[in-house]
Amino acid sequence: MSRLRAAALALAIVVLPMQAGAAEQVNVYTYRETKLVQPLFEAFTKDTGIAVNVISASSGLEQRIKAEGDKSPADVVLTVDIGRIDEAVQAGITQPIGSAVIDGTVPPRYRDPNGHWAGISMRARVIYASKDRVKQDAITYEELADPKWKGKICIRSGQHIYNNALFAAYVAKHGEAKAEEWLRGLKANLAQKPSGGDRETARDVAAGKCDIGIGNTYYWALMMNNDPDKKPWAEATKVILPTFEGGGTHVNLSGVLLAKHAPNKANGIKLIEWLAGEKAQQIYADANYEYPIRPGVPLNPTIAGYGKLTADSLPIAQIAAQRKTASTLVDKVGFDN
Ligand SMILES: [Fe+2]
Repeated sequence: MSRLRAAALALAIVVLPMQAGAAEQVNVYTYRETKLVQPLFEAFTKDTGIAVNVISASSGLEQRIKAEGDKSPADVVLTVDIGRIDEAVQAGITQPIGSAVIDGTVPPRYRDPNGHWAGISMRARVIYASKDRVKQDAITYEELADPKWKGKICIRSGQHIYNNALFAAYVAKHGEAKAEEWLRGLKANLAQKPSGGDRETARDVAAGKCDIGIGNTYYWALMMNNDPDKKPWAEATKVILPTFEGGGTHVNLSGVLLAKHAPNKANGIKLIEWLAGEKAQQIYADANYEYPIRPGVPLNPTIAGYGKLTADSLPIAQIAAQRKTASTLVDKVGFDN
């Protein structure tokens, strides 16, 4: 095992302070950063008296839960991206949530038809455009393959889960042949080999290496508001919410799953329902710069400043079904070469 992989598998166990005499508890396995989820869990414990034990890691949680088998302490899995959500379901470590509250709150297109996962917050995959060099304020995903952008686009690896979901959405919308043609066009427009993360994409637009980059909505807000070193990268760019032709903007989810052998199942469901409630949704919106899954919860002002999000209507489960095809196409067109 490489040192990098060993480091990635190292698990940080954070046990939040138990309430005096609290017998009720729930165990959460999460890929989300502790500092993002801690305020949520503290508020949940305050509201319900249920203590939250958190196991966080950057990879390997599905394998760990699988290895723990029916003795697994995992109740709830909290993760981001339909790719990771789908992997957890495929690993066979989940069970239907079976909550009328979730079914009544989370729109059907952001839930598993079989009930194994539900979206809790959303992010959109959008354009960071140079304020100086890009005059237009609207763009379609289809247009990214137009030769007018030749040598002007920056993006991270085509195999990264965020791009995999966007490309899978393209396959679901237009079919495999059209998606391949589009990916070849997009590849031909790249200013450089896919590299870095979404923040580095903004950095490269700011540095003039490319005119437009593709990134997630929350990174731009984080750079602008929470990271003085990277603020200039946000200041040099504007966010454009792209749409599919005749459709809306590609969104992805942070989601929640109920573990198959959850020892504290009732508390797990309580936590899942609480996360979809108004208080938690406001924390997702303001602390994490995500779009609330619950209708009617106000957006963070920076996120609202991007303009009105019209999310594409394609159910997320249909995007998940095309993940493998998208990944194969990325290899086929040599996207990352
Ligand atoms: Fe991210």
